[in-house]
Amino acid sequence: MKTILIMNGPNLSMLGRRDPKHYGSGTLQDLENACVNKGIELGVKVICFQSESESVLVRKLHSCIGTIDGVVLNAGAYTHYSIAIRDAIELIPIPVMEVHLSDIHNREEFRSHSVIEAVCAEQISGMGVDGYLLAMEKLVQKYIPENGSSVQEEDIDPISEERDAIDTIDAELLVLFQRRMKHVERIARLKAERNTATFVPGREAQILADTEKSVEPAYAEYAKNWMKETMRLARERQEEIRNEL
Ligand code: DQA
Repeated sequence: MKTILIMNGPNLSMLGRRDPKHYGSGTLQDLENACVNKGIELGVKVICFQSESESVLVRKLHSCIGTIDGVVLNAGAYTHYSIAIRDAIELIPIPVMEVHLSDIHNREEFRSHSVIEAVCAEQISGMGVDGYLLAMEKLVQKYIPENGSSVQEEDIDPISEERDAIDTIDAELLVLFQRRMKHVERIARLKAERNTATFVPGREAQILADTEKSVEPAYAEYAKNWMKETMRLARERQEEIRNEL
């Protein structure tokens, strides 16, 4: 069975809260549900993916080789300036349809230029969610080779599929980890300025209690251990910063 990846870039996770004039009132979940239903109609498997991060999107495009037959990509604002995403599209031997919910040619001037257009099969802009569905149709009818999928079922090793998924998640975790560390560092500096203690005893206990509540029971102990280690590393880094000052 052919597999289509629906890929959304930054800020598309906020659909439903973005300007409805351009993006409609539906959420990303509504959009993805519509694509999955279209996939059933077209007889293709649909995988949905969204990230705010350029590096994660680039890695995801790389992982399409040998696993995905066609991509519907709304790269969000990266459309207008990410040469890294452009290069990733160019190097994968898979048709990519560029879509935009809004009409990028009738908005601010800076949106009218797409750096990915030249390496995509086609651009569909201003058709809302229907644009994604049309892009899927075009992939199936025009761009994915007729005589069978380029991805042979037997070629897909389910273990490597899982590993690819883990690699993508790890890349996202690292982005989040760095963001967390930056906040930790800022706190360390602020506390040094105020000459107050870095360590707040009740706070770590509260974070662990929240962790326990936020995950499935089977993961509670694992998640707490993970958070404990994260907090230990944060403390270590804060001490480093304080010693440097
Ligand atoms: C968009 C248009 C982009 O200019 C904008 O940055 C987005 C969404 C669209 O779907 O209309 O985030 O790609």
